[in-house]
Amino acid sequence: MKLKTIAVLFGGRSGEHEVSLVSAESVMKALDPARYTIVPVGVDKQGRWWTGPGAMAFLRKGGPSVDGGPSVDGGAADCAPCFLPADPGRRALLVEKGGTLEEVAIDVVFPVIHGTFGEDGSLQGLLELADVPYVGAGVAGSAVAMDKVLQKRLHRDAGIPVPAFLHYPSTEVRVRVEEIAAEAEEALGLPLFVKPPNLGSSVGIGKATTRAELIAALRHAALFDRKVLVEYAVPEAREIEVAVLGNQDPFASVPGEVVPSNEFYDYDAKYVDNASALLIPADLPDDMADRIRALAVQAFRALECEGMARVDFLLSRSTGELFINEINTIPGFTSISMYPKLFAAVGIPYPELLDRLVALAERRHAEQRALQRSYTPKSDWHRSGE
Ligand SMILES: Nc1ncnc2c1ncn2[C@@H]1O[C@H](COP(=O)(O)OP(=O)(O)OP(=O)(O)O)[C@@H](O)[C@H]1O
Ligand SMILES: [Mg+2]
Repeated sequence: MKLKTIAVLFGGRSGEHEVSLVSAESVMKALDPARYTIVPVGVDKQGRWWTGPGAMAFLRKGGPSVDGGPSVDGGAADCAPCFLPADPGRRALLVEKGGTLEEVAIDVVFPVIHGTFGEDGSLQGLLELADVPYVGAGVAGSAVAMDKVLQKRLHRDAGIPVPAFLHYPSTEVRVRVEEIAAEAEEALGLPLFVKPPNLGSSVGIGKATTRAELIAALRHAALFDRKVLVEYAVPEAREIEVAVLGNQDPFASVPGEVVPSNEFYDYDAKYVDNASALLIPADLPDDMADRIRALAVQAFRALECEGMARVDFLLSRSTGELFINEINTIPGFTSISMYPKLFAAVGIPYPELLDRLVALAERRHAEQRALQRSYTPKSDWHRSGE
């Protein structure tokens, strides 16, 4: 069987750069060597692409040295600059080697870049222009899923319960933060969660229980995004997560539960403290579990996601309210992350999950290629200008 060449993209110009390195390492280890040849592609914090067996080590060590060259600890890093031309005919990486450009043919791209310039539709746009099959959501699904404000509007429109929210341009937050804090507290009460809408891993997120904390959280979130989201804090929230797989016919895993080691599931509780617990399946009454699974698929479809996504819910212990919190289209993917673990719990082990994601990428690409992309007008009206 001819091996498929998979370019695995990691790192990126994102607040979640480090998280991506760990996710991608795990994906590359789990991809079946009897089926795939892996081309590691590291994107450094300035957004430059590097490929080669040393690309991961290069980024783990912090990427380009001050002179911008590929060196690690003073030694030559075993990787080279590369890029993907937006040229549909090529479907290849161009690698700079000794003043020439070498072509590395690619069958499928597996983006494992979380957050900005990886999960937000921009990378997906390049992959569409290059006409390369790629894993995960397309341009539109990625863009709306990344933006928590747009996401909430579409979910609300689809009748899916979302916590009450307001949002403000960061330019306004910088000039009238006290006024905005008063407005938000008036409209939504306290406590509140404040977020930069286009990020992940809880970067820039704060919980405010007082006016002063609200003002500080607004200022902080405005550092990371051009708008700021303020939302109702679900009281005594249980964190329920569901994994979804598929293109236009998606299905959901069993729900799992996260028990954060901090007051809320912040960056340290996710990646540093190593003290948060994942319970699979979540201890829920059957009807609630079924409702959450159905809502997860509905939410996935409402954003026109494809391939994969992790759908996060907040279930109040005190009020019994259930809300969707958000969808992540490139979820954490280490072997201990919720997404692969939830599918393992329903009988789809990690390597097989990756095989299915690659197959979904190729199926979508084939469907898109079958679409008519040009139109032949009856008359040559467009030539009249000559
Ligand atoms: N409205 C809310 N009510 C209660 N807790 C909340 C609310 N919004 C966020 N949280 C808490 O903050 C955490 C991070 O929020 P959220 O999932 O929106 O951010 P994220 O940065 O996109 O995270 P992820 O790493 O899952 O992509 C949640 O897991 C939860 O602990
Ligand atoms: Mg998120």
